[in-house]
Amino acid sequence: MDARFGFILGLCLMMGLTCATSVKFVDCGSSSGKVAMVDINPCTAQPCQLHRGDSYTVNVTFNSDVESQTSTAVVHGIIAGVPIPFPIPEPDGCKSGIQCPIHKGQAYNYATQLPVKSEYPPIKLVVEWELKDDNKNDLFCIRFPVQIV
Ligand SMILES: *[C@@H]1O[C@H](CO)[C@@H](O)[C@H](O)[C@H]1NC(C)=O
Repeated sequence: MDARFGFILGLCLMMGLTCATSVKFVDCGSSSGKVAMVDINPCTAQPCQLHRGDSYTVNVTFNSDVESQTSTAVVHGIIAGVPIPFPIPEPDGCKSGIQCPIHKGQAYNYATQLPVKSEYPPIKLVVEWELKDDNKNDLFCIRFPVQIV
């Protein structure tokens, strides 16, 4: 754990705050938008440790380069290089904190729940999260590692 991260975590724990941690992510081709920040709550380590049976909030701040009536999330878990569909309870981005229609040049917060089922195996994997616009282009495409525990 790096010192700065430890300090912030310590501060949060001390003050009893809910700590959303900015997650290190890789952009995997956001062709119709630009990602500013990715938060997972709660997440107190890098990579985030996702406890089976718990639910997490994934919060992505992005800017749109396009106008779009709709936004649809597509999530995959990449295990040993193979993307496996990872269903989420609410794939509609317009019901996940985004006020649709989406306007070009505007910033949005996409926030949704990621339930971690108790039958998932305790492995490390990479989560790939896309949000698609009307033309199936990615408003964002991000990848971040997680550890299921
Ligand atoms: C998502 O993150 C933004 C920016 O930090 C924050 O303003 C917003 O309240 C967060 N939304 C949720 C549901 O956590």
